[in-house]
Amino acid sequence: GGARAGMAAPGALEPAAGSVPGTKVELTVSCRQLRWGRVLGGPPSPLSLQFGRTEVIDNTLNPDFVRKFVLDYYFEEKQNLRDWGNPPWSHSAFFGAQDFLGQAFVALGEVIGSQRGPPTAVGQKGVPGKRCGTILLLAEELSNCRDIVTMQLCANKLDKKDFFGKSDPFLVFYRSNEDGTFTICHKTEVVKNTLNPVWQPFTIPVRALCNGDYDRTVKIDVYDWDRDGSHDFIGEFATSYRELSRAQSQFTVYEVLNPRKKCKKKKYVNSGTVTLLSFSVESEFTFVDYIRGGTQLNFTVAIDFTASNGLPSQPTSLHYASPYQLSAYALALKAVGEIIQDYDSDKLFPAYGFGAKVPPDGKISHQFPLNNNVENPSCAGIEGVLESYLQSLRTVQLYGPTNFAPVINQVAGIAAQVTDGSQYHVLLIITDGVISDMLQTKEAIVTASSLPMSIIIVGVGPAEFEAMEELDGDEVRLSSRGRYAERDIVQFVPFRDYVDDSGNQVLSMARLAKDVLAEIPEQLLSYMKTRDIKPRRADPE
Ligand SMILES: *[C@@H]1O[C@H](CO)[C@@H](O)[C@H](O)[C@H]1NC(C)=O
Repeated sequence: GGARAGMAAPGALEPAAGSVPGTKVELTVSCRQLRWGRVLGGPPSPLSLQFGRTEVIDNTLNPDFVRKFVLDYYFEEKQNLRDWGNPPWSHSAFFGAQDFLGQAFVALGEVIGSQRGPPTAVGQKGVPGKRCGTILLLAEELSNCRDIVTMQLCANKLDKKDFFGKSDPFLVFYRSNEDGTFTICHKTEVVKNTLNPVWQPFTIPVRALCNGDYDRTVKIDVYDWDRDGSHDFIGEFATSYRELSRAQSQFTVYEVLNPRKKCKKKKYVNSGTVTLLSFSVESEFTFVDYIRGGTQLNFTVAIDFTASNGLPSQPTSLHYASPYQLSAYALALKAVGEIIQDYDSDKLFPAYGFGAKVPPDGKISHQFPLNNNVENPSCAGIEGVLESYLQSLRTVQLYGPTNFAPVINQVAGIAAQVTDGSQYHVLLIITDGVISDMLQTKEAIVTASSLPMSIIIVGVGPAEFEAMEELDGDEVRLSSRGRYAERDIVQFVPFRDYVDDSGNQVLSMARLAKDVLAEIPEQLLSYMKTRDIKPRRADPE
């Protein structure tokens, strides 16, 4: 799912379809001088943002949250902000704590404009304008670095901090920012009651560790964990990606130093040592790596021919095409198909209809070939699909019910035949959304979620698409009879969000296509990753 969140950019200037989107920006959130949440000093809760929430940090009024938010940022859309009542999500961050502490509104553009975002006032509930702390936002543009580091550390002879017992050590990693400040990027787990902890190996993207800059300082603090949140500082040391990576072949030992102890005690040597036990780098593959390596997208179309769409000859019908304008169905098909066909080398697209009475015997079919060829339902190009679709409109009788499961199972059956990553199936279902076989469809999607396939649902018409939203699985992972979908493979978008009054259809359709296809790369990657499939090497040209 995700289109609902990602697509809310109506009225924006659209970069040409297929062009590289804007840039990715990582937001880091801190608060300063929050008021106590409750009389008894309840802990400040996680901050919620409109697109996510931070973790909870107990017992502090000055939390530095580790969880980051990566946002797409489109410069082109900014100028349109003022045209809308509701700014698009990617430009506005809404903060409100669970035990409501206060809130602030800010445009992402403002945060990006000033390197460290302006401290933002947090108004208290019911007392607008009353300050109850500040939120600090740091936005940094992410470099395109795609490597992932796995490392493991241990420590020796750390200082004893606990009166009873030893210490409960953990590590906190910070990367340095361009302006010399530090941003938390990782915390290890706590190892209880030891001065010689061995932490679990962990992975971190290189861009999180150093934003792709191999020589940036990486600072590491060693703390003794305390139940009440007042963790004791044991010491610190600094390194860089480059230095860490040299350790691939040997152990590297760092002295942990506590500057205050060093000043006070003449004989102070160190507060222990930390040893890098292992360090390895793996490349994170992209969608493009797989496509270049020969993975084919196989595109299948399914079109809703149920009676709820209205008689195609009537102008009110969703299938109605005037001499001057395509129907909503045809528009959606064209918009999505024309982009996806670039990734499908034979450009033969199986196309089905469902929910109609089909000649010659007038039986209801939930999966009839639009080209009337049961042996080979493939149409040549999107033009071929359109032609067969119009042909079918003239020959079948719109009926019902609206069953999705048969087409989903059909494509899943084909997808199950080649699971080595060389083929990935995308099923586009265009529907008015009045689904009749919800249970069967959920079951079919849960089964399909372990196969190399994704499902795009475009909802046309004025319906409330609650069922479609549920299938999309953005809020709650889809399940059927106690079984959960392995991956999110459904993307739903309502067509009406893309029909603008200005009559500029071309722009709206480009945006529809972009939003509909937004999740396909990630869904493909999640399949490849869980199956441990690497891209094949690009064919030599
Ligand atoms: C998928 O697409 C590729 C390339 O276009 C084609 O060779 C292959 O036969 C297709 N697979 C199916 C099951 O249609």
